[in-house]
Amino acid sequence: MKAALNAWHELPQLLSAFSELATAFIESSKNRPVAGQNIAPPELCLSDSGMTIEQLVKQFSEHIVPNLSVSTGPRYWGFVTGGATPIATFADWLVSTYDQNVSKGDGSIATNIERQTIRWLTELFELPSSFDGLFTTGATAANYLGAVVARQFAGHQQGINVAEDGVFGLDVAVFCATPHASMLKALGLAGLGRNQLIRIKTQPNNEATDIRALELALDNSQAKSKIVIASAATVTGTDFDDLIQIRALCDKHQAWLHVDAAFGIFERIINGANGRTKGIELADSITLDAHKWLNVPYDCGVFLTRHLDYLVASCDVPAPYLVTSKCEPDFFSMGVENSRRFRALPVWMSLLAYGKQGIRQWVGKNIDQAQQLADWFACSPDYELVYYGKLNVVLFKPKGQDDSATKRLLQAINADGRIFVSPGSWQGQKVIRAALSNWQTEQVDLDIAKSALTEIIKAL
Ligand SMILES: Cc1ncc(COP(=O)(O)O)c(C=O)c1O
Repeated sequence: MKAALNAWHELPQLLSAFSELATAFIESSKNRPVAGQNIAPPELCLSDSGMTIEQLVKQFSEHIVPNLSVSTGPRYWGFVTGGATPIATFADWLVSTYDQNVSKGDGSIATNIERQTIRWLTELFELPSSFDGLFTTGATAANYLGAVVARQFAGHQQGINVAEDGVFGLDVAVFCATPHASMLKALGLAGLGRNQLIRIKTQPNNEATDIRALELALDNSQAKSKIVIASAATVTGTDFDDLIQIRALCDKHQAWLHVDAAFGIFERIINGANGRTKGIELADSITLDAHKWLNVPYDCGVFLTRHLDYLVASCDVPAPYLVTSKCEPDFFSMGVENSRRFRALPVWMSLLAYGKQGIRQWVGKNIDQAQQLADWFACSPDYELVYYGKLNVVLFKPKGQDDSATKRLLQAINADGRIFVSPGSWQGQKVIRAALSNWQTEQVDLDIAKSALTEIIKAL
């Protein structure tokens, strides 16, 4: 008989199937290939009559499970990918079960838990309590809010309410040295135009802003309003901008400072407020990602700002059924979505369960592991260490080879299945990036990776 829609009496059966699937996946995650091998969709037709739970689970187990990536596993080093700790995974299961709409504060504690979690994050990262914000789907959405709120600020400087009247007539210039692709996307979405971005020179041999070049660009700009986008850290080199100096320039020009700190902000829990993120506390807005180094499941980013009024001015659209009743703005007035899942819960539970020390431990471990990998590439007869920015990303390539060899090597590594890495570009040449941000990565994984890398390059 096909699955019943009208009752929860199948819950025990669903939970037992879930338990089996989850256990098998988690137990196999250290041994199975990191990347799915056959990712074409299964040849299934849209069902008219539906399926039984057994049939459904069979389809999923046979066609989908073997071809999923183990992006939660210890040797998935592509992009900047966090895993998902047991507590965060558990919390995420609960999110679906309780299915709260964290939009308005009425009728559920979930809204206040999101507020509490945002406060805990500002504490974790030693940011002033003047920062407020919300959970987003990821850093891209947070960067989008950064562009939107900066745009609103620029409009305010010129007597234009952009949210009400649009960007027509707005005179604004945006400056950045090494924007993440998502920041370019954000500028496009916000009507600020990707091509309008004024690209600032970087320092020699790294991706951080050349402060003198930024100073000159700001001095030379005739725009009535200015927005500066800084990085902490850049996605390829993991380079940090000098945020103290950039803030001083922004103050001189009454410019908005947005800092994309998607994963670099986690350096702050290792080295404190005087480490490489020094000055981030002076930003007007900050992007960070919890689904990266905080190791909670997708999708979970965070946007913070010291100017909630501009954010609310951008996002608040009054509707009779959405009337805000309290002094704190509701979440639908602070972000893109009106309806929002209980995204805060995995972060809330992780912070409670692991504490600052737990998080510091896995972030510190990943940095040590990246250093070890960088040292290994530096000594390798077959590989070249292209760059290591002293955080969690290592850039490498085959020694003395061209871009096409790098591309072939990347494909061979990912096809092998013992580790997963992603491509990058460094100072005009193709490189391979290994980004270590998973709580589960251990020495044995580095040893497996080194063996795999040695064997694969010799076989090419
Ligand atoms: C610096 C930086 N900003 C933004 C993003 C985009 O993050 P997401 O994929 O969560 O939208 C990334 C992702 O790697 C990043 O490293």
